[in-house]
Amino acid sequence: MQTERILRLIYLSRVWGNMTNTQLDNILAKSRRNNPKKKITGLLCYGGTSFIQILEGPEQEVILLYATILNDERHHGCKILDIHIDMKRIFENWAMAYVHSTKDDFDELSNILQGAGRKHEQIVSQVVSVLKSYLGKKIDLASSIGKG
Ligand SMILES: Cc1cc2nc3c(=O)[nH]c(=O)nc-3n(C[C@H](O)[C@H](O)[C@H](O)COP(=O)(O)O)c2cc1C
Repeated sequence: MQTERILRLIYLSRVWGNMTNTQLDNILAKSRRNNPKKKITGLLCYGGTSFIQILEGPEQEVILLYATILNDERHHGCKILDIHIDMKRIFENWAMAYVHSTKDDFDELSNILQGAGRKHEQIVSQVVSVLKSYLGKKIDLASSIGKG
Protein backbone atom coordinates (compact mmCIF):
# COMPACT_ATOMS: atom_id res chain seq x y z
CA MET A 1 0.00 0.00 0.00
CA GLN A 2 1.35 3.40 -1.02
CA THR A 3 2.20 5.93 1.72
CA GLU A 4 1.06 9.49 1.13
CA ARG A 5 -0.28 12.31 3.25
CA ILE A 6 -4.03 12.59 2.76
CA LEU A 7 -6.94 14.34 4.42
CA ARG A 8 -9.90 12.13 5.28
CA LEU A 9 -13.24 13.85 5.85
CA ILE A 10 -16.40 12.05 6.90
CA TYR A 11 -19.75 13.82 6.88
CA LEU A 12 -23.40 13.07 7.35
CA SER A 13 -26.20 14.76 5.38
CA ARG A 14 -29.94 14.43 4.87
CA VAL A 15 -31.86 14.09 1.63
CA TRP A 16 -35.07 16.05 1.00
CA GLY A 17 -37.19 13.04 0.10
CA ASN A 18 -36.37 9.66 -1.38
CA MET A 19 -33.55 9.74 -3.91
CA THR A 20 -34.40 7.89 -7.13
CA ASN A 21 -31.92 5.36 -8.52
CA THR A 22 -31.30 7.77 -11.38
CA GLN A 23 -30.38 10.57 -8.98
CA LEU A 24 -28.02 8.25 -7.10
CA ASP A 25 -26.51 7.02 -10.37
CA ASN A 26 -25.93 10.62 -11.47
CA ILE A 27 -24.07 11.49 -8.26
CA LEU A 28 -21.94 8.35 -8.51
CA ALA A 29 -21.19 8.79 -12.21
CA LYS A 30 -20.11 12.39 -11.66
CA SER A 31 -17.99 11.43 -8.65
CA ARG A 32 -16.32 8.60 -10.53
CA ARG A 33 -15.57 10.89 -13.46
CA ASN A 34 -14.29 13.85 -11.40
CA ASN A 35 -12.54 12.29 -8.43
CA PRO A 36 -9.63 10.55 -10.19
CA LYS A 37 -8.57 13.89 -11.71
CA LYS A 38 -8.27 15.27 -8.16
CA LYS A 39 -6.75 12.10 -6.69
CA ILE A 40 -9.82 11.75 -4.47
CA THR A 41 -11.08 8.36 -3.35
CA GLY A 42 -13.82 7.39 -0.93
CA LEU A 43 -17.17 5.91 -0.19
CA LEU A 44 -20.78 7.05 -0.35
CA CYS A 45 -23.25 5.29 1.93
CA TYR A 46 -26.97 5.89 1.37
CA GLY A 47 -29.55 4.86 3.93
CA GLY A 48 -32.88 6.00 2.53
CA THR A 49 -33.02 9.43 4.17
CA SER A 50 -29.36 10.32 4.61
CA PHE A 51 -25.84 10.01 3.27
CA ILE A 52 -22.54 9.31 4.95
CA GLN A 53 -19.63 10.12 2.67
CA ILE A 54 -15.94 9.50 3.23
CA LEU A 55 -13.63 11.65 1.11
CA GLU A 56 -9.85 11.14 1.11
CA GLY A 57 -7.16 12.84 -0.93
CA PRO A 58 -4.93 15.94 -1.11
CA GLU A 59 -6.01 18.39 1.61
CA GLN A 60 -7.00 21.26 -0.67
CA GLU A 61 -8.88 19.04 -3.10
CA VAL A 62 -10.88 17.42 -0.33
CA ILE A 63 -11.79 20.77 1.24
CA LEU A 64 -12.73 22.25 -2.14
CA LEU A 65 -14.86 19.24 -3.02
CA TYR A 66 -16.56 19.32 0.37
CA ALA A 67 -17.37 23.01 -0.19
CA THR A 68 -18.98 22.10 -3.52
CA ILE A 69 -20.90 19.18 -2.03
CA LEU A 70 -22.05 21.39 0.87
CA ASN A 71 -23.83 23.67 -1.60
CA ASP A 72 -25.45 20.83 -3.55
CA GLU A 73 -29.22 21.16 -3.33
CA ARG A 74 -29.80 17.41 -3.56
CA HIS A 75 -29.11 17.18 0.16
CA HIS A 76 -28.85 19.43 3.22
CA GLY A 77 -27.69 19.60 6.81
CA CYS A 78 -24.11 18.47 6.11
CA LYS A 79 -22.33 17.78 9.37
CA ILE A 80 -18.66 16.78 9.61
CA LEU A 81 -18.34 13.66 11.75
CA ASP A 82 -14.57 13.36 11.49
CA ILE A 83 -11.66 15.04 9.74
CA HIS A 84 -8.05 13.96 10.08
CA ILE A 85 -4.72 13.54 8.30
CA ASP A 86 -3.59 10.01 7.50
CA MET A 87 -0.60 8.55 5.70
CA LYS A 88 -2.51 6.02 3.68
CA ARG A 89 -5.81 5.68 1.92
CA ILE A 90 -8.49 3.22 2.96
CA PHE A 91 -10.41 3.33 -0.32
CA GLU A 92 -7.42 3.51 -2.64
CA ASN A 93 -9.13 1.36 -5.28
CA TRP A 94 -12.40 3.31 -5.33
CA ALA A 95 -12.97 6.70 -7.02
CA MET A 96 -16.25 6.51 -5.09
CA ALA A 97 -17.38 3.21 -3.62
CA TYR A 98 -21.08 2.84 -2.88
CA VAL A 99 -22.94 1.14 -0.06
CA HIS A 100 -26.74 1.07 0.00
CA SER A 101 -27.70 0.19 3.56
CA THR A 102 -31.04 -0.38 5.25
CA LYS A 103 -32.38 2.54 7.25
CA ASP A 104 -31.86 0.68 10.52
CA ASP A 105 -28.24 -0.14 9.70
CA PHE A 106 -27.65 3.41 8.57
CA ASP A 107 -29.12 4.92 11.73
CA GLU A 108 -26.99 2.65 13.85
CA LEU A 109 -23.85 3.52 11.85
CA SER A 110 -24.48 7.23 12.17
CA ASN A 111 -25.25 6.97 15.89
CA ILE A 112 -22.00 5.09 16.42
CA LEU A 113 -20.06 7.61 14.33
CA GLN A 114 -21.59 10.44 16.32
CA GLY A 115 -20.07 9.23 19.46
CA ALA A 116 -21.96 7.24 22.04
CA GLY A 117 -19.55 5.60 24.44
CA ARG A 118 -16.21 4.63 22.96
CA LYS A 119 -13.17 6.70 21.98
CA HIS A 120 -13.82 8.64 18.82
CA GLU A 121 -10.85 7.43 16.74
CA GLN A 122 -11.64 3.81 17.55
CA ILE A 123 -15.24 4.31 16.54
CA VAL A 124 -14.34 5.96 13.28
CA SER A 125 -11.74 3.37 12.31
CA GLN A 126 -14.10 0.53 13.16
CA VAL A 127 -16.98 1.95 11.16
CA VAL A 128 -14.73 2.68 8.21
CA SER A 129 -13.24 -0.80 8.21
CA VAL A 130 -16.68 -2.42 8.38
CA LEU A 131 -17.85 -0.26 5.47
CA LYS A 132 -14.77 -1.33 3.54
CA SER A 133 -15.27 -5.03 4.18
CA TYR A 134 -18.94 -4.61 3.23
CA LEU A 135 -17.75 -3.71 -0.24
CA GLY A 136 -16.11 -7.11 -0.63
CA LYS A 137 -18.94 -9.26 0.66
CA LYS A 138 -22.39 -8.34 1.84
CA ILE A 139 -22.34 -8.47 5.62
CA ASP A 140 -24.70 -7.17 8.25
CA LEU A 141 -23.32 -3.67 8.75
CA ALA A 142 -24.74 -2.72 12.11
CA SER A 143 -24.18 -5.99 13.92
CA SER A 144 -20.59 -6.17 12.64
CA ILE A 145 -19.91 -2.84 14.26
CA GLY A 146 -21.76 -3.78 17.41
CA LYS A 147 -19.38 -6.76 17.89
CA GLY A 148 -16.31 -4.51 18.23
C1 LIG B 1 -24.15 13.25 -1.45
C2 LIG B 1 -23.35 13.82 -2.59
C3 LIG B 1 -22.07 13.37 -2.81
C4 LIG B 1 -21.30 13.89 -3.86
N1 LIG B 1 -20.03 13.44 -4.05
C5 LIG B 1 -19.28 13.95 -5.05
C6 LIG B 1 -17.95 13.49 -5.28
O1 LIG B 1 -17.40 12.63 -4.57
N2 LIG B 1 -17.26 14.04 -6.32
C7 LIG B 1 -17.80 14.99 -7.14
O2 LIG B 1 -17.12 15.45 -8.07
N3 LIG B 1 -19.07 15.42 -6.95
C8 LIG B 1 -19.81 14.93 -5.93
N4 LIG B 1 -21.09 15.37 -5.75
C9 LIG B 1 -21.65 16.34 -6.72
C10 LIG B 1 -21.19 17.76 -6.43
O3 LIG B 1 -22.00 18.34 -5.43
C11 LIG B 1 -21.26 18.62 -7.70
O4 LIG B 1 -22.55 18.56 -8.27
C12 LIG B 1 -20.26 18.15 -8.74
O5 LIG B 1 -18.99 17.96 -8.17
C13 LIG B 1 -20.15 19.18 -9.89
O6 LIG B 1 -19.25 18.67 -10.83
P1 LIG B 1 -19.02 19.40 -12.24
O7 LIG B 1 -18.41 20.75 -11.91
O8 LIG B 1 -18.08 18.50 -12.99
O9 LIG B 1 -20.37 19.53 -12.91
C14 LIG B 1 -21.86 14.88 -4.71
C15 LIG B 1 -23.18 15.32 -4.46
C16 LIG B 1 -23.91 14.80 -3.43
C17 LIG B 1 -25.33 15.28 -3.21
